Amino acid sequence: MAMEVIPTGAALGAEVRGLDLTGPLDAEAFDALQQAWYDHSVLLFRGQSLSDDALIAFSENFGALDIAPASATDMAGTQEKSRPEIWIISNVVEDGKPIGALGDKEAEWHTDMSYVAEPPMASVLHSLEIPKAGGDTSFGNMYKALETLPDDLRREIENRIANHDSSMTSVGELRAGAGAVVDVRNAPGAKHPMVRVHPATGGKALYLGRRMNGYVEGMDVAASEKLLDALWAHCTKPEFTWTHQWRVGDLLIWDNRCTIHRRDSFNGSERRVMHRTQIKGGVPV
Ligand code: OGA
Ligand code: MN
Repeated sequence: MAMEVIPTGAALGAEVRGLDLTGPLDAEAFDALQQAWYDHSVLLFRGQSLSDDALIAFSENFGALDIAPASATDMAGTQEKSRPEIWIISNVVEDGKPIGALGDKEAEWHTDMSYVAEPPMASVLHSLEIPKAGGDTSFGNMYKALETLPDDLRREIENRIANHDSSMTSVGELRAGAGAVVDVRNAPGAKHPMVRVHPATGGKALYLGRRMNGYVEGMDVAASEKLLDALWAHCTKPEFTWTHQWRVGDLLIWDNRCTIHRRDSFNGSERRVMHRTQIKGGVPV
């Protein structure tokens, strides 16, 4: 069966049908897949059942993997034992210990691990257990956000650098080992250009990590807060986004260089278990 790419009809995202991700992909199939990914920024595959090894092998088609990030909970606890590339996202608690990160609360808009100097270019997320309702994940198209940015805001971010705070997770918890930020000018993290050029597509995208503790270098704090609020209000408008409702066996790959995402809360008495990999990227320019 030939690969079929079905755009979501929203600002980004497409479903890919006709590919079995458990086996190796030949070069021709991978090239077509990669092009579809460049075109749509997020790809969805339904009905997959990948072991951790298969998830890692599929992800490695796109490049070498990063190890999973530090969470609020004990870092070792949210990495799959013996496979540090796998990050477990789950609300499930076993023997009083969370088996994964992010719990059941809303995860605010963000792009993954942008608080490091070389953030992963992509994340791959595979659903193993899904609650009956809630926990949807939305994505935003940062090429379109930049393209449509009002001129005054566009001028304000030209050649600007922002700090991407590393102290808080997207569910608003302090990461293991981090202290509370009292002045955003001194927040830990990584400094990146606010507009970046995608190395493969050549497209320019707005680049924001997460709103919490963000700071535009060289501005006074009030001006930085105001600018960041205006940018986030713009890029999260519904016309730039697409929301995915998970089923068991879904696999999503998204491009952290040109998208943002968030997750809805869900009923904590239900189980949600996902395994993620992250593909190494370079310094954003
Ligand atoms: C992630 C993430 C959202 C979700 O995997 O990076 O933010 O749907 N997950 O759990
Ligand atoms: Mn994320």
